[in-house]
Amino acid sequence: MNILVLGSGGREHAIALKISESPKTSKLFVAPGNAGTANIATNVEVGVNDFKAIKALVLKEDITLVVVGPEDSLVNGIHDFFLEDDELQKISVIGPRKAAAALEGSKEFAKEFMMRHQIPTAAYQSFTADSLTKGYSFLETLNPPYVLKADGLAAGKGVLIINDLEEAKKELKSMLVDSKFGNASATVVIEEFLDGIELSCFVLTDGNDYKILPTAKDYKRIGEGDTGLNTGGMGAISPVPFADKDFLDRVEKEIVKPTVEGLKKDNLPYVGFIFIGLIKVNGKPKVIEYNVRMGDPETEVVIPRLKTDLVQVLLAMANGTLGDITLEIDERAATTVMAVSGGYPGAYGKGKVITGVENVSESLVFHAGTKLVDGKVVTNGGRVMAITSFGRDFREALETSYKNIQKIHFEGMYYRKDLGFDL
Ligand code: AMP
Ligand code: GLY
Repeated sequence: MNILVLGSGGREHAIALKISESPKTSKLFVAPGNAGTANIATNVEVGVNDFKAIKALVLKEDITLVVVGPEDSLVNGIHDFFLEDDELQKISVIGPRKAAAALEGSKEFAKEFMMRHQIPTAAYQSFTADSLTKGYSFLETLNPPYVLKADGLAAGKGVLIINDLEEAKKELKSMLVDSKFGNASATVVIEEFLDGIELSCFVLTDGNDYKILPTAKDYKRIGEGDTGLNTGGMGAISPVPFADKDFLDRVEKEIVKPTVEGLKKDNLPYVGFIFIGLIKVNGKPKVIEYNVRMGDPETEVVIPRLKTDLVQVLLAMANGTLGDITLEIDERAATTVMAVSGGYPGAYGKGKVITGVENVSESLVFHAGTKLVDGKVVTNGGRVMAITSFGRDFREALETSYKNIQKIHFEGMYYRKDLGFDL
């Protein structure tokens, strides 16, 4: 069958690589893709939110399965667009419909969902410009640090954690009244601060059954020792050593099951990935956030560990037969280290020539922000390449990732050398 992956990051490269290895795959397309996906698929210059162009591509190339990488296409309703179109209705789309994508698209919706289904999460209240003074009073009842979250999508920048009460009030006003994050902060969720260690849990569902993928932990800060600004993710490891069997049993019973059952009860049909951001507080799991897609760079460690044919799994999700599937997982640990552009997550240059990838051995190189220009691979984003390796444990895997990342060069390249320091 012919398959389309939407997106252009390391996540999409990792998903596309696994799909390309399936005997079920005839032709594989990635839109828009990057220089890495160009080696294993046909890149098509179509944006992930250009639904009309996606329709034309799907019909022209006889594509029957579409895997949606990023959240914005889902929040914008790509799945609904397919279902409402006579010519596209029968095509399988992996990713939830707009109504369920609100789990990521609206923090308030996600919190209300968790309350309704008794899923453990931080206590909260939400506010708009009209209730600004109530927001100030609520902040006064909390202990610092204060957690302010823009309700809508804000490219990962919409969460502020502030130690000082007056500063928190100022930021609340700036979000609600001065549209600090545009329309995304027209509603703000104020949350109790949870003190613990974070990890991510990835769930596949056909809307009825579910399967849990390996856990992963990403490193979000730019600086060593988890300091400095937040990034899209500087690396990841899987599995997470502190997520033992007892803890994972609790995650399944207290969070995964009620989430999938909650979607059913709320009549939110869901075919796709659920990425549950968790925090372990005094041994107990709580939900920090839902995402309605895979994580990046977590995908670059989770998907390589999947031994089961990914296309078979995706089809089972689409056909409602996920219950018949057994996921086979590589027992080895996987790690990925992200090479980023100098200056990221602030301003950075693009178009720097990347060399040395051909010298990498025993690691997978997933392109995150690259493109081909005159036959040369050049940088095209903040996060440029993720170097994924296996090992008996994450330390051994990291050694291989670090050995290989040193073979790659581009002007201004930076990566964190301390992944796993906290474990
Ligand atoms: P989110 O976009 O909701 O995942 O938030 C971004 C980051 O902010 C998370 O990965 C956490 O590190 C942090 N965070 C969010 N909510 C809380 C909370 N209630 N307590 C502590 N840290 C939080
Ligand atoms: N690595 C976090 C994310 O994909 O949102």
